[in-house]
Amino acid sequence: MDYFNYQQDGQLWAEEVALAELAAQYGTPLYVYSRATLERHWHAFDQAVATQPHLICYAVKANSNLGVLNVLARLGSGFDIVSQGELERVLAAGGDPAKVVFSGVGKTAVEMQRALELGIKCFNVESEPELERLNHVAGQLGKIAPISLRINPDVDANTHPYISTGLRDNKFGIARERALDVYQLAHQLPHINVVGMDCHIGSQLTEVQPFIDATERLLALVDELKSVGIEIKHLDLGGGLGVTYNDEQPPLPADYATALLARLAAYPQLELIFEPGRAIAANAGVLLTKVEFLKHTEYKNFAIVDAAMNDLIRPTLYSAWQDIVPLIPRKGESQCYDLVGPICETGDFIGKDRHLCLAPGDVLAVRSAGAYGFVMASNYNSRPRVAEVMVDGQQVHLVRARETLEQLWQHEYVVK
Ligand code: LLP
Repeated sequence: MDYFNYQQDGQLWAEEVALAELAAQYGTPLYVYSRATLERHWHAFDQAVATQPHLICYAVKANSNLGVLNVLARLGSGFDIVSQGELERVLAAGGDPAKVVFSGVGKTAVEMQRALELGIKCFNVESEPELERLNHVAGQLGKIAPISLRINPDVDANTHPYISTGLRDNKFGIARERALDVYQLAHQLPHINVVGMDCHIGSQLTEVQPFIDATERLLALVDELKSVGIEIKHLDLGGGLGVTYNDEQPPLPADYATALLARLAAYPQLELIFEPGRAIAANAGVLLTKVEFLKHTEYKNFAIVDAAMNDLIRPTLYSAWQDIVPLIPRKGESQCYDLVGPICETGDFIGKDRHLCLAPGDVLAVRSAGAYGFVMASNYNSRPRVAEVMVDGQQVHLVRARETLEQLWQHEYVVK
């Protein structure tokens, strides 16, 4: 559930603010986030596993705006990061490094060093060479690195191939068959402390079963490790819980947790970590875009809008479907439109075959745009990246200013 609803005046609001007012004040395209929605989604995870020791580590990659991170940090959230950039953002937003887990297959020595100095909770290690590098860097600093091994449980998450990560032929994690050996190696390394086990099997999952299959495979390994004297203190199941973009019916965090906690009855001390990104942020954001022109051809009707694939790439990259609704619905006959941006690529579309009643100047909301929206934006076609605002009840905070044209080339030089 989110706080973007049509109110009695027939207009779409974010919490207690009419979106049309925001479009008028800040211009379009514009990302708008709802604080109450972010908090609601975070609490849904936190409360679902209240009976087990746990930490919710929001996946920063989904939406790394400082305003978003700060809202979550104030709730006591942990963070899942994949780069030093994300780590520094968490700090800048007031997050606690002791609640940070560091994922990703390509951590550099510099990134490891910074994370060790800050004392993060855990490195989610994805390979043996990474383990050796981390041991070396920690040794140079006279520190011990807390680690978890990312196990590839080889389960099919039934999701888009680009965002499926737990299969044998993905680049992620350590194969289940190799896991015992790698844990034993880690256990022997002088500057490594084995604390956890993790996995992340994919994103936008709409069923509980793949998560449960993965958990069972991991728990069997936890038992196996115990028998050789290696104690796993936390189990990190990654992110991946899907959201409703269209008619998907993903499990609620509570459904997921109930199924999970039943499997964890024999492990009351095991701390559970989740790394949700999309499930917290996606439906906490919309992208507002204005209709510039309507173009009717013999074969198709196009609504040319001011947002493009550089602002929101999910439709182009994954053929993702996101709902597109008018801020102020018009009375009249709807027509079937492709909503396309101004970029010079045929793939530049926000939505296809949408039945809408439109006129130039109308402002539309692309829903479910709070995750993997702005963070994947680029400056392609020399388009400044758009502004972001956070609504909090009746209040509105600008959480990122619109880029200026000069900023487009601020780090460039002409040849001398
Ligand atoms: N943890 C790890 C290790 C991950 O790789 C990811 C996402 C997450 C957590 C968060 O997953 P979530 O809860 O958001 O599903 N750009 C794509 C999604 C890529 C997800 C990559 N990894 C999209 O727009 O659909």
